[in-house]
Amino acid sequence: MKLRFLIASGPTREPIDPVRYLSNYSTGTMGRFLAEAVKKRGHKLDWVRCPEEAESARDLEKVLTQRLASADVLVMAAAVCDARPKAVSAKKIKKDKFDSIKLVKNPDILAGLAKKKKSSQVFVGFALESQDLFKNALSKLKRKSLDLIVLQRVTKNIKPFGDQSIEAFLIKKDQSQNVFESIGKKKLAEIIVREAEKLVRDSRNPFC
Ligand code: CTP
Repeated sequence: MKLRFLIASGPTREPIDPVRYLSNYSTGTMGRFLAEAVKKRGHKLDWVRCPEEAESARDLEKVLTQRLASADVLVMAAAVCDARPKAVSAKKIKKDKFDSIKLVKNPDILAGLAKKKKSSQVFVGFALESQDLFKNALSKLKRKSLDLIVLQRVTKNIKPFGDQSIEAFLIKKDQSQNVFESIGKKKLAEIIVREAEKLVRDSRNPFC
């Protein structure tokens, strides 16, 4: 069964002024391996790379909203900045004015897309957690209408960014789990793609 995967990856950037932005440590490595895995399995790939193809959270929300309808699987691996400056300054902000920068919350893209989700579509999301790992991941799974969530631990000493082996937990809607104490991102990406294929199959043949 050949499917159409819509993948978002990499960090969003939230402009502050013409020379500065807010962002995070994401390198987009997982997205690159996911894209390779999708192609290797012969599926169609629609890949949105942040920040090159969608800079801010609101840019990404717009692109994904336009492209969602034609996707069988959405893999939301983008590291979305949860906040942005309330206003983008047209002029470079002088350093003695930094405390005038106000932040506002960005939209939760997945939660918004969940409202448009078709029953035949599969959503895969990620969760980076430092505490109450499973409680928080399960709450995201539900809130964002996910079929599968990839949970990773992040602490001061464990930073799962870049091309390295990571600890990962794959949790499905039925709360079944696969635990990987240490796995390379390439291998994990291949497993995620296979799991997504199975979930699409199950959603189309619920009695099998
Ligand atoms: N996500 C999203 N829109 C946001 C933030 C995150 O769609 N504004 C997506 C991410 O791409 C990821 C999932 O939601 O697939 C969980 O992201 P994460 O940063 O772990 O959680 P948040 O929803 O941002 O919650 P919190 O920061 O409170 O942990």
